[in-house]
Amino acid sequence: MPTPATLDALLVEERVFRPAPATVIEANVKPAELAEAYRLAEADPCAYWEQAALELEWHRKWDAVLDDSRAPHYRWFPGARGNIVHNALDRHVHIWTKNKLALIWEGEAGDCRKFTYFELYREVNRFACALRALGVSRGDRVCLYMPPVPETVVAMLATAKIGAVHVFVFAGYSAKFLRERINDAEAKVLVTADGFYRGGRCINLKTVVDEALEGVRGDAAETVVVVRRTGDDIDMREPRDLYYHDLLRQESPEAATEIMEAGEPLFWLPTSGTTGRPKSVVHDHGGYMVGAHHTFRTVFDIKPTDIHFCTADPGWITGHTYGVYGPLLTGATVILYEGHPLYPQADRLPAIIERYGATIFYATPTLVRMLMRYGPQYPKKRDLSTLRLLGSVGEPLSPEAWMWFYKHIGRSNCPVLDTWWQTETGMAMLSPMPISVLKPGSVGKALPGVAADVVDAAGAPVPPGQGGFLVLRKPWPGMFSGLAGDEEGYREAYWEKIPGAYFAGDVARRDEDGYYWIQGRADDVLNIAGHRLGTAEIEAALCAHRFVAEAAVIGVPDKIKGEVAKAFVVADPAWTGAFPDADALAADLRGHLRRELGPIVILRGVELRETLPRTRSGKILRRALRAEELGEPYEYRSDAEE
Ligand code: WTA
Repeated sequence: MPTPATLDALLVEERVFRPAPATVIEANVKPAELAEAYRLAEADPCAYWEQAALELEWHRKWDAVLDDSRAPHYRWFPGARGNIVHNALDRHVHIWTKNKLALIWEGEAGDCRKFTYFELYREVNRFACALRALGVSRGDRVCLYMPPVPETVVAMLATAKIGAVHVFVFAGYSAKFLRERINDAEAKVLVTADGFYRGGRCINLKTVVDEALEGVRGDAAETVVVVRRTGDDIDMREPRDLYYHDLLRQESPEAATEIMEAGEPLFWLPTSGTTGRPKSVVHDHGGYMVGAHHTFRTVFDIKPTDIHFCTADPGWITGHTYGVYGPLLTGATVILYEGHPLYPQADRLPAIIERYGATIFYATPTLVRMLMRYGPQYPKKRDLSTLRLLGSVGEPLSPEAWMWFYKHIGRSNCPVLDTWWQTETGMAMLSPMPISVLKPGSVGKALPGVAADVVDAAGAPVPPGQGGFLVLRKPWPGMFSGLAGDEEGYREAYWEKIPGAYFAGDVARRDEDGYYWIQGRADDVLNIAGHRLGTAEIEAALCAHRFVAEAAVIGVPDKIKGEVAKAFVVADPAWTGAFPDADALAADLRGHLRRELGPIVILRGVELRETLPRTRSGKILRRALRAEELGEPYEYRSDAEE
């Protein structure tokens, strides 16, 4: 682990932006209320979160707000019963939101489908009945390998409605990755699509699924439900494969909602860590619901008239929390877009904002940098006057990108909310509020109830302005309840690095005003275009190639993607017989990596080496390779590297 002292070479940004008076007057949380929220959350965090829980409907209320007797396993709202889908969907059909738009979906070709809460409710019920008829019941896992289409949202909600657990595998992952996740989850059913459109191409998903299902263990994914999206000719294998639309035709639009204990799992979400294997982060019905609802209502300041455009794929935590659950829990209207953000032109996202009158635009720094590259003339062509809030997540948003976003998308009158959080936190943790004074490049202060700190390797707080490890000292309701089947990994990765605190794995600094500035990961996790990928996972994938003896992967900066991977490989001498030159081997390795992990890994280069630098105990010195690559000085420190 690098020491924070070497990591505080952070830019000092002096600009500040004050909220417009109208924003303050209209905000859901006004300055006096925010001050009171901080006061209460500090004095009595359980009372604060209890208030948040009372904003939702429960089948039975909790016996206690928090049970920390088995820390680091925290149980939020023990004794409470309910189902997140009751709050996200069922309750809306009895109130005024019934006929309000829940979901606006736009396909890449420009096709559009809209669902009111009532329509979404009926579709979800039909699919819930179908899943039940397929033998899926409470606690069973349903794997989703889905593109961004409305049925993806339906599948998530239908699974949760019957008390089953959705395990989403982002459609950019490979067949092998999918197979492993199906096996890990022992998923009963897999929901997928024939394909989808992206970048003007028709991407076939079903062939990936067919490959993944060759060699799954036992009776995993016995049934595959296929949504017809592209109408491509695909191989449907009987009796395993069923068309979604055929299944739904016979089902009732009414389905009972399973009443869950607050701590029962809602979903697993695979994510990368520092080991060679991805881990599945587990979130529950009760605490996660409170976290998603409360932060969406307060941070995103949601109003009945809002149209929220979240660019994240539903297959990531951002899509789960602020693309699906948060918006539906608050009765908002959300936009889901299928395709490539620059297709057919760089004004596609601004065009979507204009077309539906989006009021909130939640994007990623990679997207902002992509738009910046094409220039302000693209957003300028579009009427973006409906926007009132901008959000960013997933990677550091530099002051330069912040300013561009603010000026050219927000027309200098929308606050930019740079939200810091993680798959594990389930909800935004550090973020400005719409009424906050903004500093470009900063993720603002810790939200009320969030006990963040910046510490050194021994856990001692570092002075303001100095870099250190970001930790969280108190539990929060949206927190994950564990890693599926990996108790040791849970304790070791998150709770044992810094005594008495949750270790986020990020390097940050906090300034004199309590504003946080995130520098990036402190561990061997890359952030490629906002997607988390462990160097160890990429190395393990490379090492599975027949001619790779050893491999080391580092992250190198990239103007658009933030970071991309670079591989150093020690090849087995036998490769020379199989490939004409090193470039041919490198090309084969790229293809191999794509097959092993999927197109999600962006590899800048492959360099052949005779040996790799190692510590005295034999660990690969990635830092030395990185320093060499970037032309930075490097000094071996046995304490930090061993
Ligand atoms: C990074 C995404 C800088 C960070 C919700 C974190 C950020 C990892 C920000 C989690 C931000 C997230 N500024 N970096 N606003 N938000 N990160 O699990 O390194 O996909 O640890 O969750 O993304 O990524 P994950």
